[in-house]
Amino acid sequence: MSAAETDLPALLGRLRTAAGPPQVLTDADLRASHETDWTRRWHGEAVAVVRPAATEAVAAVVAACREAGAAVIPQGGNTGLVGGSVPRAVAARRQVVVSLTRMGDVEPIDPVAGEVTVAAGVTLGALQAQLRGSGYAFGVDLGARDSATIGGMIATNAGGTQAFRHGPMRAQLIGVEAVLADGSVVRRLPGLLKDNTGYHLPSLLAGSEGTLAVVTRARLRLVPHLPRRAVALVAVDGPDEAVELAGNVRRQLPNLLAAELFFEDGLTLVLHHAGGQRPFADAHPAYLLAEVEGREDPTAELAGAIEAAGPLVRDAVLAGDDAGRARLWRLRERHTESVNAEGIPHKLDVAVPVRRLGAFARAVRQTIAEVAPAARTFLYGHVLDGNLHVNVLGPPPDDDDVDAAVLGLAIEMGGTVSAEHGIGVAKVGWLKANRGAADVAAMRAIKDALDPDGILNPGVLFG
Ligand code: FAD
Ligand code: MLT
Ligand code: ZN
Repeated sequence: MSAAETDLPALLGRLRTAAGPPQVLTDADLRASHETDWTRRWHGEAVAVVRPAATEAVAAVVAACREAGAAVIPQGGNTGLVGGSVPRAVAARRQVVVSLTRMGDVEPIDPVAGEVTVAAGVTLGALQAQLRGSGYAFGVDLGARDSATIGGMIATNAGGTQAFRHGPMRAQLIGVEAVLADGSVVRRLPGLLKDNTGYHLPSLLAGSEGTLAVVTRARLRLVPHLPRRAVALVAVDGPDEAVELAGNVRRQLPNLLAAELFFEDGLTLVLHHAGGQRPFADAHPAYLLAEVEGREDPTAELAGAIEAAGPLVRDAVLAGDDAGRARLWRLRERHTESVNAEGIPHKLDVAVPVRRLGAFARAVRQTIAEVAPAARTFLYGHVLDGNLHVNVLGPPPDDDDVDAAVLGLAIEMGGTVSAEHGIGVAKVGWLKANRGAADVAAMRAIKDALDPDGILNPGVLFG
């Protein structure tokens, strides 16, 4: 440890000056919820949790950490699922969690451009609430909307349920403001959709997982809001049928907004932990949840598309009203918390080419059964992105065998080890196998250039 690193009181003093004394949490009880991730698989200890409320304060915090040789762990809603948002269990330097949740302002919506500028700590739910009645919506949606922040969603390049339609977070980004590792601020929020003046920093920061900069503000593209929605839950024979049906519906109904897959074991688990009613009298192997939006009520056209699928459909229920749609959605969205309620899961968020989703779903169960015969596996995901969430319960949190088997299979089948959650600390060993040596060297060069002292989220992405 260098002389600068040993001077903890001086570092805490500078953090207090930067963010205000009450916003530097050093008490173990107050730090606790910031030190363990949503799954409880990842945790570590920070010397402090700092909660700056302005960009200049974030810059001063980062500068103080750099001078003290301390690591900066950027944190939004702490809903990330790959361990990147909490301190490392084993760390070479002191760690400071920089929580952005106090940066919560939303600027007025630009109705002509269809854009809005928001601070990094704004939750997705708060943005959605702000957009209500504006004629616009945000193009990314996900179950953690009430806690996940725009900054965290940019850093993870979050995907969610509408990615096949509107693209992931990267596709919504028009500009960013961010604090670099030396405490300087890059800011380009002019609301220029067309702006070909060199490297596009928003794209670089999307998916950078807090390793290149702390995002403090973003200019976001909005999509037209279509006021009416209908949801169908369709029982099918398996994932191949779900893929085929989702493809059919997509071709017929350009306003398809979501196509989500889950299985009977997951449904039973959700009903057990979250309550609710079985949607069908009988149990079925798999379920496709499809949502369509429109200016007029799209229930009839959704019903027509499902009827046209004939033998692909074992049974179906539709809902056009808010309560009915919410009842069906919760059967899918409550999977994450229901799995968590059973134990600490190994969460493996993979994607394969859509056409291979069914084959992957079958093969992965077989692979897990061979590696960890006593494990329980729950699969669900976003069909049209080829994105399956493989949740494994049973193996201890530090046992990586099952992770290796699942991620290896995804690569073997032409897929990726992370579709939307990121690499974090959970999958660092897999980056090279997935991206190749040249890609990783290019990424490393960018990291070294922007963060030569390696203070921004060390251990994430590169290990
Ligand atoms: P955090 O968890 O706090 O941080 C995530 C990463 O971003 C960390 O590496 C952190 O260091 C970095 N970071 C955070 N804020 C900043 C910042 N301002 N600047 C730089 N780096 C930063 N994800 C999906 O993609 N699709 C889903 O459908 C989805 N559904 C979910 C459902 C549930 C119930 C839960 C619990 C999670 C879900 N997630 C999903 C995962 C998670 O919500 C997303 O990864 C989200 O983008 C994380 O946002 P956050 O604010 O919680 O970030
Ligand atoms: C989801 O789609 O539900 C999320 O990505 C969270 C999860 O994988 O559990
Ligand atoms: Zn997901």
